[in-house]
Amino acid sequence: MSDTPKDVVTVSLEGTDKTATLPLLHGTMGPPVADIRKLYADMGVFTFDPGYGGTAACASKITYIDGDEGILLHRGYPIDQLAEESSFLEVAYLLLNGELPTAAEAAEFHKGVTHHTMVHEQLRNFFQGFRRDAHPMAVMCGVVGALSAFYHDSLDITNHDHRNISAFRLIAKLPTIAAWAHKYSIGQPFMYPRNDLSYAANFLYMMNAVPAEPYEVNPVLARAMDRILILHADHEQNASTSTVRLAGSTGANPFACIAAGIASLWGPAHGGANEAVLKMLAEIGHKDNIPEFIAKVKDKSSHIRLMGFGHRVYRNYDPRAKIMQQTCHEVLDELGIKDEPMLDLALELEHIATTDPYFVERKLYPNVDFYSGIILKAMGIPTSMFTVLFAVARTAGWISQWQEMIEDPANRIGRPRQIYTGAPLRDYVPIDKRG
Ligand code: CMC
Repeated sequence: MSDTPKDVVTVSLEGTDKTATLPLLHGTMGPPVADIRKLYADMGVFTFDPGYGGTAACASKITYIDGDEGILLHRGYPIDQLAEESSFLEVAYLLLNGELPTAAEAAEFHKGVTHHTMVHEQLRNFFQGFRRDAHPMAVMCGVVGALSAFYHDSLDITNHDHRNISAFRLIAKLPTIAAWAHKYSIGQPFMYPRNDLSYAANFLYMMNAVPAEPYEVNPVLARAMDRILILHADHEQNASTSTVRLAGSTGANPFACIAAGIASLWGPAHGGANEAVLKMLAEIGHKDNIPEFIAKVKDKSSHIRLMGFGHRVYRNYDPRAKIMQQTCHEVLDELGIKDEPMLDLALELEHIATTDPYFVERKLYPNVDFYSGIILKAMGIPTSMFTVLFAVARTAGWISQWQEMIEDPANRIGRPRQIYTGAPLRDYVPIDKRG
């Protein structure tokens, strides 16, 4: 991040002699950023940016997005190269450490993660406290938050080794907790992790195997799962990552911060969209009903949105959606699923939405969640688990962003201000004098 004395934005307050000179900061890529930190002190003026569409809340070296061009880079590496050639654990290492691992580093990282996949037996009891029909995301919020009660030995966030071990624990244990949330909801016994399997294969194993029968993980499906995890691993300062950073800025422990991130991810405008896409496709039911549905979406009073479309940052095709579409076809081929009505419906919807002026003018393209739901459904994963899978993947990004924030000397507690629009100062009125 750099600035030069002449690289400034000057702001003046009309009708007064107050001016402020704001340094213009430059990252390695992306637009310049006006540093408004001294604006209030110099001029007595706050800035207003609900939804933070024009605000950089931090400096980060982890992920770069160019929304106009549809570019996504992790530590400089394009997402399509990572999805094609890397593995989820390698991407997790990259996000955490800044560089791709050497063979020795990769082996050590893999060993570190696989040696933390078990959870404390007592943690099993937490599952029993939930109703059978609890949404697995509700279980995730609770059980992941509960991890902080189990690791008092490593909660000193100022200690580098403690931070590292917590990162390992979170990346390693999330698939176990997620798979158990699923098993609990269908009344099957919990399957313990198998450390001889890859990260994605072990996750599929814990989700699908039962003790009574041998279970072979299909390598094509394991690869598809790994790719889905890579595509969801990090995405800059989205709502859930910003939640993790905001919670972490207070010094809260990493397990509590990730539980906060999971809660934020759950909403249908964010990670809950993959589940919502499937519900939407089921509701449309048939290609013939698409025009009627699109008409409802265009009618603002209906409050219906085309789920899996649009993105705050991308005003172009989400690069992850392209890879997801290809993976979708690979999975359906492998499973011998032909003429899948849901996919036909999705393709038709995509065609209409990408040519209809309403969506074209607003630059609403398919996002990552449009296809991920179809793939996961074909893989036999229940709809209620879609966002859980997203949470498993995003944990790598969340904990990397949390680490970066804690190690940044400029880190301060996150504390936005507001425009107060309530009642002005007034005196308390005793109850017998009201009305
Ligand atoms: N369907 C119909 N209209 C839409 C949609 C949509 N999916 N998304 C945005 N619009 C319209 C919106 O009504 C507005 O129109 P107008 O200018 O006439 O008022 C315009 O496009 C701009 O919308 P916005 O609400 O200002 O956009 P935003 O940046 O605040 O919202 C979004 C981004 C992702 C929340 C939104 O596009 C959306 O709700 N999409 C559907 C949910 C979804 O697929 N979410 C997953 C996002 S990708 C994965 C992730 O990050 O978790």
